[in-house]
Amino acid sequence: MFTLLKTDNKARRGSFETVHGTFQTPCFMNVGTAAAIKGGISSVDLRELKTQVELCNTYHLHLRPGDHVVKQMGGLHKFMNWDKPILTDSGGFQVFSLAQLRKIKEEGVYFASHIDGHRIFMGPEESMQIQSNLGSTIAMAFDECIENPSPYKYVAASIERTTRWLIRCKEEMERLNSLPDTINRHQLLFGINQGSTFDDLRIKHMEDIAALDLDGYAIGGLAVGEATEEMYRIIDVVEPYMPVHKPRYLMGVGTPSNIIEAVARGVDMFDCVMPSRNARHATVFTWSGIMHLNNKCYETDPRPVDEQCDCPTCRNFSRAYIRHLFKANEQLAGRLAVQHNLYFYNTLTEKIREAIDKDRFEQFRGKYSQLLATRI
Ligand code: GUN
Ligand code: ZN
Repeated sequence: MFTLLKTDNKARRGSFETVHGTFQTPCFMNVGTAAAIKGGISSVDLRELKTQVELCNTYHLHLRPGDHVVKQMGGLHKFMNWDKPILTDSGGFQVFSLAQLRKIKEEGVYFASHIDGHRIFMGPEESMQIQSNLGSTIAMAFDECIENPSPYKYVAASIERTTRWLIRCKEEMERLNSLPDTINRHQLLFGINQGSTFDDLRIKHMEDIAALDLDGYAIGGLAVGEATEEMYRIIDVVEPYMPVHKPRYLMGVGTPSNIIEAVARGVDMFDCVMPSRNARHATVFTWSGIMHLNNKCYETDPRPVDEQCDCPTCRNFSRAYIRHLFKANEQLAGRLAVQHNLYFYNTLTEKIREAIDKDRFEQFRGKYSQLLATRI
């Protein structure tokens, strides 16, 4: 159950109680697509990184190792030895971004696996069945993530179909949760708002899905090619139509400054591959801005990546050492940088929560929103 603890202007401080424990919002979920954080970070490591929620992907785990394998191993929590909340994305987005030879029909999507090309069908029922086999804490609805820009007529028809899919997701999830051999009989379901960049369609779709009384609501179809200002504008447009007492999740976003700006607009939950992906390319986030560790200037720099950071990497290693590891193509380079970036994002949302608690979020935003985006 989600409890809205307090607000500071539009910024919200919440607490979300689940069968896998309670997490605090605003929250950044750490992305472990195929039941692993890229860069060689295990669930044991995450305990040192202030991670509250791990995010995994239905599409990837269905293809490999197969959701039936995960179910046989007792579900995703046991499989990767992570006992805190897990959110699974529905496959909706990955089918549209990764799979080939896609064909969208009323019943669902026909596509070819990006691994070996074999033909697969996924519709709302299949996505719920897979997520039920994985036994995640929170399942996401099966949606169509529409690319930007798209024609108005296409988007109008697509959101109607996404709503019909959502009704089928809800019914199927209720059925699965009542079965005796279900891994997590309290699995929650979030709906996903779509509508591309059309204000009226965004609002209509949000009103339609809000009426279904789901466990939470996501804004999807953003950070897919539109300008940042356009993304902020759409959050401003749909936010007044989102249920106040349900958690709000902005999918696939974003930079530290995007997160601060979205919290200021009333969003509670985030996920993004950026901290882990950038880290593997030697780009790290710090409280003074963004740093590229391959730069020559760090060759003999004895300081930690960020002098203000308490992460396992910063407590133990220098910029010079990590730069050397990147230059030598050592796997440890990526691992140390990913640890730092995830800790940074988890600390960022922690500091945001503290600022909201003290009614100081606007000061926090003024101090950091631009600063964290500067290159140093
Ligand atoms: N991840 C980022 N954007 C989206 C979206 O629109 N839908 C889904 N299912 N996942 C996403
Ligand atoms: Zn650090």
